[in-house]
Amino acid sequence: MKLSLLSLALTLSPAAATIYYAGVAESGGEFGVWSATSTPGTGLPGRFGVDYQFISEPAIDVHVDNNKVNLFRVAFLLERMCPLATGLGSTFNETHFALYKKAVDYITVTKKAYCILDPHNYMRYNNPSQQPMSGSVIGNVSDPTAATTAQFGAFWGELARRFRGNERVIFGLMNEPHDMPSKLLLANNQAAVDAIRAAAAFNLILAPGNSWTGGHSWTQGGAEASSQWLHLLRDPVKNTAIDIHEYLDVDYSGTHVGCKSEPATNLKDATAWLKAHNLKAFVTEFGASNATECLPMLSSMLDYMAANSEYIGWTAWAAGPLWGTSSPCCTDSSHWGSLEPGSKADDGGPGLYETVWEPVIQKKVPAKLQWTGPASIYGGLLLARN
Ligand SMILES: *[C@@H]1O[C@H](CO)[C@@H](O)[C@H](O)[C@H]1NC(C)=O
Ligand SMILES: *[C@@H]1O[C@H](CO)[C@@H](O)[C@H](O)[C@H]1NC(C)=O
Ligand SMILES: *[C@@H]1O[C@H](CO)[C@@H](O)[C@H](O)[C@H]1NC(C)=O
Repeated sequence: MKLSLLSLALTLSPAAATIYYAGVAESGGEFGVWSATSTPGTGLPGRFGVDYQFISEPAIDVHVDNNKVNLFRVAFLLERMCPLATGLGSTFNETHFALYKKAVDYITVTKKAYCILDPHNYMRYNNPSQQPMSGSVIGNVSDPTAATTAQFGAFWGELARRFRGNERVIFGLMNEPHDMPSKLLLANNQAAVDAIRAAAAFNLILAPGNSWTGGHSWTQGGAEASSQWLHLLRDPVKNTAIDIHEYLDVDYSGTHVGCKSEPATNLKDATAWLKAHNLKAFVTEFGASNATECLPMLSSMLDYMAANSEYIGWTAWAAGPLWGTSSPCCTDSSHWGSLEPGSKADDGGPGLYETVWEPVIQKKVPAKLQWTGPASIYGGLLLARN
């Protein structure tokens, strides 16, 4: 694998600005655990197809066959994959794993697209009842109830062993770590990378930064800034990219209708850091509402990623089978639907699929993407989807 990556590096031009992977985040596997009263264990293990679900196969068909996208990021919850009774590690709930694998296989084997595995846990494990704030930070040695860094490594080693034969599977180490020491974040990322490679899995890895892995704040926060730490991550086979999230509203949270933030300005420092360390990035969450000022900004964001060679992949937030008229992004809690094909607002009006995906994002899906060969930081052969 090391050799084949090297030969890819020599035959492709890494300097050309190219998006190799483009698509949408599938949110739903992490649903059903919120508790207004903060009751631990709410929604665990949960009812598949009722409380949570990974994908809708017909919706994946639309995104691949009609929209010609080649990348999905599929969320799941660590507490469902690794039940609290056995803890975070290499013991999985096999029923849950089989359901998740079915979704990943549908995307990668049946549709021949690429799939990012997304433990949607904010670098926390044991109490998702008030995600993203609840639960013990993984590796917090002052918290006797916290899972350890070694357990996080063991979890990734096992997941990697199970998917190492599938070169279309990408390992997203963790969704949006926040409010934790960056040194610990690096240690956790490193434990995962080491365990994955020790399992003889050479798949592309996406490593998150701190502060919700926000692109705009990548270099902010002094000694705690992601830019002070993430380049120290070592991958023996050099197939790790940086995972960045970026929303266009006033506080970058992806909760507001209005857009404030010009993406080229916001990502400038992160891009310079990527360039300085010769790193590639995926933006695995971004989004904006259908407000008048948002649409051109979202378009600029997609142009910016296409124009800067540091960015090689993206997934917009979010589609998913259980959103109904609820919205994953950018509506001030209005029910304006999601990026799921056919999605509608609660007044029967067009949903974000029609108002944001089709007029803006779809237009920026590159005509040629990678459809064959291993996911890698060098990308691969670009082809139009039949
Ligand atoms: C494993 O997952 C299945 C499917 O969701 C569930 O029925 C079962 O209770 C889970 N087992 C544990 C120990 O969580
Ligand atoms: C680690 O655990 C201690 C003890 O529970 C707690 O005070 C501290 O805030 C935790 N650190 C993080 C980063 O959550
Ligand atoms: C955005 O979509 C919602 C839901 O269809 C709609 O109510 C709203 O008027 C739209 N906004 C604009 C600016 O078109």
